[in-house]
Amino acid sequence: MQAILIANPKGGSGKSTLAVNVAAYLAANGEHVALLDMDRQQSSRFWLEQRPAELPMIWPLNKDHSKRPKCDHLVIDSAASLHGKNLERAIKLASKILVPISPSMFDMHASQEFLRVLSEEKALRKGRVQIGVVGMRMSARTRSAATLERFLAELDVPVLAYLREAQVYVNSIADGKSIFDLPPHTTARERAQWQTLQLWLE
Ligand SMILES: Nc1ncnc2c1ncn2[C@@H]1O[C@H](COP(=O)(O)OP(=O)(O)O)[C@@H](O)[C@H]1O
Ligand SMILES: [Mg+2]
Repeated sequence: MQAILIANPKGGSGKSTLAVNVAAYLAANGEHVALLDMDRQQSSRFWLEQRPAELPMIWPLNKDHSKRPKCDHLVIDSAASLHGKNLERAIKLASKILVPISPSMFDMHASQEFLRVLSEEKALRKGRVQIGVVGMRMSARTRSAATLERFLAELDVPVLAYLREAQVYVNSIADGKSIFDLPPHTTARERAQWQTLQLWLE
């Protein structure tokens, strides 16, 4: 089982939005997917409870649940406070880490620091864990994207996607869905932005 950790110490960076869309994308591809919500706010767990039964199944896993269904992927939505021992534990579980970053300068600055801490972890230095950034609520070739790339310049971490700000992310989540559960023609622009990230996930 491949575990994908979604992490950023900043609240509101887009962790839960990314986590549920990654989980639903993999499930839509016929993969067996579990979702672990480590955040006390339980956003993605709540989302899963709203999820219509006829959509591709995603298995809920809570923190103290040791009985896991056999899954191909485990998506981990983490808390803003993830650091220290808990961060180390989460990294041990993960084979991939996705860091969503929102367009504010403050967030980019804090995320840069987080990426530095991550890159010093043994598992990352040894190349056991892959790491990638997702620019949230921003489009490629914008000022925000250029600023983010400047922040990442010395870190050797790829930007796997820029996901533009779109109401369809907000509305689909409110119904327990993702953009991948909506008719493709209504989400064509969003889906197009996922291509590189999808290759990285597989
Ligand atoms: N691409 C996007 N388009 C529109 N709204 C977004 C997008 N990504 C995130 N958001 C919104 O930003 C806010 C924070 O996102 P969230 O996923 O809850 O972050 P976190 O889990 O890191 O706290 C939410 O209101 C969410 O709906
Ligand atoms: Mg969250």
